[in-house]
Amino acid sequence: MVVLQKTDSTNDQAWREALEGAPDGTVVVAEEQTCGRGRFGRSWFGAPGRAIALSVVLRSGLAPERLGLVTAAGAVATAEAVERTCGVRTKIRFPNDVMAGERKIAGVLAETRFVSGNPDLCVLGIGINVNVREEEFPKELRSDATSVLMERGKPAERNRIVRALLTCLEEYLGSAEEVVRAWGARSYLLGRRVELIEAGKKVRGLVEGEDLGVGLALRLENGLVRQVRGEYIEKVRALPNSRIPS
Ligand code: BTN
Repeated sequence: MVVLQKTDSTNDQAWREALEGAPDGTVVVAEEQTCGRGRFGRSWFGAPGRAIALSVVLRSGLAPERLGLVTAAGAVATAEAVERTCGVRTKIRFPNDVMAGERKIAGVLAETRFVSGNPDLCVLGIGINVNVREEEFPKELRSDATSVLMERGKPAERNRIVRALLTCLEEYLGSAEEVVRAWGARSYLLGRRVELIEAGKKVRGLVEGEDLGVGLALRLENGLVRQVRGEYIEKVRALPNSRIPS
């Protein structure tokens, strides 16, 4: 494991390690990231010393078209690790967010790059808001972000979460079936009316299905069902009172 006080982004550091030959499963963690990033080039806020920023080098035959499943494995592993070690109930918002209640507690960013001779190389990055106080989040995130501390009212030990996370990751990266099963039990969006931004356009509909490798089956307001691919979903939010009664 590579443990750093400060780095630009643990994903970038993991890429550097990978290109120097780091083995499958190499883990990079940092207390502070100066350029942590999320999907669509957005910046990722991680309070120094109070969050978890972790990336894993994966070399084990992961074709780029399976990136959705790698993201999903990261999300279910994170959700489970947080719940198991901290007692905070978690759900997963397709394609890469871990939620506590209606707010985001963690995010996952899986990346591939074409590296000659290493077609299967991938970096899986995970950021978890652990002991972050509400007022520490940038204002624009405050209504949508939460932390373990905020959810359970007392701090958590980050090392315990990391240990559980690595154990869960190992399990889920080894079994797509387990990922699908675990996701099914934790879906935040299934059966809810949502508004999402797809390739710059707002779309509303009811989520009737989730295919982790592909995308959402969305029943549009005109009654037609449309597949929305995960990689084009820039933002998604569940509309208020949108849970279908069971
Ligand atoms: C997202 O929600 O858009 C994904 C956020 C992923 C953040 C993590 S923190 C560790 C790793 N390093 C990064 O720069 N990003 C990921």
